[in-house]
Amino acid sequence: MADQRTEAPDSTAVRVALWRAMHVQVDSPPHVFEDEIGLRLAAPDDGWRRRPDMDPLTTSGFRAAVVARARFIEDLVVEQAGQGVDQYVVLGAGLDTFAQRRPEIASRLRVFEVDRPGPQAWKRRRLIELGHGIPDGLRLVPVDFEADESWTERLIAAGFDPARPAVVVSTGVTMYLTRDATAATLGRIASFAPGSTLAMTFLLPTELLDDADRPGLQASEEGARASGTPFVSFYTPQEMLALAQEAGLADARHVPGSLLAERYFADRADGLRPSSGEDLLLATI
Ligand SMILES: C[S@@+](CC[C@H](N)C(=O)[O-])C[C@H]1O[C@@H](n2cnc3c(N)ncnc32)[C@H](O)[C@@H]1O
Repeated sequence: MADQRTEAPDSTAVRVALWRAMHVQVDSPPHVFEDEIGLRLAAPDDGWRRRPDMDPLTTSGFRAAVVARARFIEDLVVEQAGQGVDQYVVLGAGLDTFAQRRPEIASRLRVFEVDRPGPQAWKRRRLIELGHGIPDGLRLVPVDFEADESWTERLIAAGFDPARPAVVVSTGVTMYLTRDATAATLGRIASFAPGSTLAMTFLLPTELLDDADRPGLQASEEGARASGTPFVSFYTPQEMLALAQEAGLADARHVPGSLLAERYFADRADGLRPSSGEDLLLATI
């Protein structure tokens, strides 16, 4: 049973959930991703849309980047599920709502959400309070990636089958983890069954951002530090690929954020466009 004092949502997870809801509420259709369940889980004060980090104009690039990565991941999971993969592992799941939004696909999968114990206990409670419940196919696995523990053992104890392939994703997490913790996580995934896929986002060092996006990253870095969740790790694509290869992921490639921008935002009339700064590692086992 989690300590009531630590049973609270992670502020970074709430922020990205609110950005996903903002996209539906303030951006014109077509929406790249539709998710207002995270907003209902978070249940912020009435004035949440006036928070400075929700400003529709100045934070539009972050909002777009967050829905772009969510869409990319969801397309990947749907594709993998179509190929018969039936295990989905969400590392640092936060207020992910795939299991609630896409029950027709989730029911064909076992979904493992991995996150720190306190935020996860909070989410479990909120899912029950909102009537979603915790279906048998959704397994909440409490883990702290910084603690030197084998989260794969926890996963297996929760019903994960290491002999069968899985799709594993981690979005918006590596910047909060030490390089050692991420290397250890990559090493564990490298031993997953052949046919598994990993998609993991990482933040780029400031010098690799488009000029226009640097002040925004600086502001969010300061905000992250002030709210007690500092960004501790940035990677160039080459560094992330090297980390993956050293961890045993031989088949790893870099997916730039600009590719997601092209894929999902190319023809928008409202000019909404993801900011640069977050790229992906895509690896197959
Ligand atoms: C920015 S949120 C991203 C949530 C979700 N992946 C998304 O994209 O909406 C970062 C998540 O990483 C989790 N996290 C951060 N450090 C962690 C750690 N050491 N162990 C486990 N989870 C961690 C937080 O609790 C939070 O849910």
